[in-house]
Amino acid sequence: MTRLPIVTWPDPVLREVCVPVTDGEDLHELARDMLETMYDAPGRGLAAPQVGVTKRVFVMDCGWQQGAHAPRVCINPEITQASRHMASDEEGCLSIPGVLARVDRPVTVVLRYCDPDSVWHEVALQGFEARCALHELDHLDGIVTLDRLTPDARAEAERAYAMVTP
Ligand code: NI
Repeated sequence: MTRLPIVTWPDPVLREVCVPVTDGEDLHELARDMLETMYDAPGRGLAAPQVGVTKRVFVMDCGWQQGAHAPRVCINPEITQASRHMASDEEGCLSIPGVLARVDRPVTVVLRYCDPDSVWHEVALQGFEARCALHELDHLDGIVTLDRLTPDARAEAERAYAMVTP
């Protein structure tokens, strides 16, 4: 396994819309490397463009820091249902270190994705897991947390980021 360098904002790769993974692509190695990179960071989610790979893949494991490992490798993920009920909470991003952005997201979602063994899953997620999946899915569409802020909140977050980034 290899720890991969994490791309930081405003690297243009974070703006790219990622391409679907095609049948027959073996993503076992990429998935292992992304999980190792995420755990090492440490973080709870990581999308492929954050390691410079513009494919529709992300990994997440929201409970590992509490001893409840539940790693997911999500290939060609999509949200098939989302609650109308929204919640607002602060989100960090490994590509925007030192910045927390308050983002509105649906409270529950149904996520459909393929794993590296080509098995499809459809899971209901709520709370932080739902938020994490939506955050990572945004990365696959070239969207970062800053893009979901009001202009004022974004300007403030960018000032904070400029102060922590040389
Ligand atoms: Ni992120």
